[in-house]
Amino acid sequence: MINTLISYDGKRMGITKEERKGIRAQLREAHRRIDRMTSSGELGFLDLPYDTGTTRDISRVAKRVQKRFSRMIVIGIGGSDLGARTIWQAIGGTKTSLTFVSSPDPETVSGILKDTDWTQTAINVISKSGTTLETMAAFMVLRASLIRSVGAKAHASHVFVITEPSESSILYQIARDEGYEVIPHPTNVGGRFSVLSSVGLFPAAVSGIDIGRMLSGARTVESERRRRTVDSIAATFAADQYLALTRHGKNIHVLMPYADLLSHFGYWYRQLWAESLGKIRDGVFVGPTPVAAFGPTDQHSQIQLYTQGPNDKTVTFVEVARFRRSVSVPSVWKERKGIGHIGGQSLDVILHAERLGTEHALTQAGRPNGTFQISSISPETLGALFITFEAAVAYMAELLGVNAFDQPGVEEGKHETKRILESMRRKI
Ligand code: PA5
Repeated sequence: MINTLISYDGKRMGITKEERKGIRAQLREAHRRIDRMTSSGELGFLDLPYDTGTTRDISRVAKRVQKRFSRMIVIGIGGSDLGARTIWQAIGGTKTSLTFVSSPDPETVSGILKDTDWTQTAINVISKSGTTLETMAAFMVLRASLIRSVGAKAHASHVFVITEPSESSILYQIARDEGYEVIPHPTNVGGRFSVLSSVGLFPAAVSGIDIGRMLSGARTVESERRRRTVDSIAATFAADQYLALTRHGKNIHVLMPYADLLSHFGYWYRQLWAESLGKIRDGVFVGPTPVAAFGPTDQHSQIQLYTQGPNDKTVTFVEVARFRRSVSVPSVWKERKGIGHIGGQSLDVILHAERLGTEHALTQAGRPNGTFQISSISPETLGALFITFEAAVAYMAELLGVNAFDQPGVEEGKHETKRILESMRRKI
């Protein structure tokens, strides 16, 4: 049985049958390696959809937060931020509202300090390593304000920490000393692959989203991937992108959702793609450049470049089959030339026509493009999207011969910033 949550159509990718056939053995080997790393426990993210025990624990803590707090400030950056933001934007929630802080921008942070009623507010600080500069700086500022408001003794019950429960995490040591509740970050799941762990699920559950439904969607698609192996959606999409990059010189991958509420999904994908695939392999710099575009807004900007600029891109649409709301344009001005075709249409039909129009324009210009379709925006389809893209990145990395799960370039920047701050401190 094929899942009904998500489908992928790569017919307009300009890839020949022979090319697809030609990499099947390589793809099978990639699948075997991913399988091996997953079953040995080295790779944890593909098992997250099956972890219903953790989901129960998370939901219990989340219920307590909902009862006591009307707002939760979620502090984290990169993989400890973008997934939860994506979920909050796409599905929202009817319980505790979420505010996200990822950059230590003084204007953002002071705005939060000014408008926070701490008696009603919890803090959820997320950092796998427990040492990240931006996260710790924002946490230190907000914690001080919380203590000023509710007192040193009471403040601990407002703070919920997600980190690796290990001595290497300074945040974990602090949580233990201060008595903060710790929700473990799974050790074998990397930051950008962690959206279906406590990192994405805890804030989502606090906001009232049914995280069981999200995991069930991810489980449906992941079970299908395991069954269909190299014919799964993730493997097919990865093979298309790999062939477009290595055989057709398409160095840039544009992801273009046609739904306002999936714009953050574009940012989440961009991090996953860039940080996992941009690597040095035996002295060679590899990795396609990800671009997050949004339909139809970028039809009026980027699409000019994509149809007539350098032919070095693939465009992947994300289309929503059924929107949750329906709005129709009033049947007026039918006799007016130029806009007569708009009156009486529903907005979702207009949006679909726009995506199709862009697809045709790109195809006519010989620009490779593919489409993911999700049935609607729901916890299930979001779970399905996350796991599909994560698995696809794992296949891409295997095909490219790079390690998807490290980030030496990012670490380098972190070390340099630390060195600069330490030398500044010595001068104070
Ligand atoms: O994917 C990654 O590993 C990074 O983007 C991290 O998520 C990011 O650097 C934040 O790290 P941490 O969760 O340790 O604070």
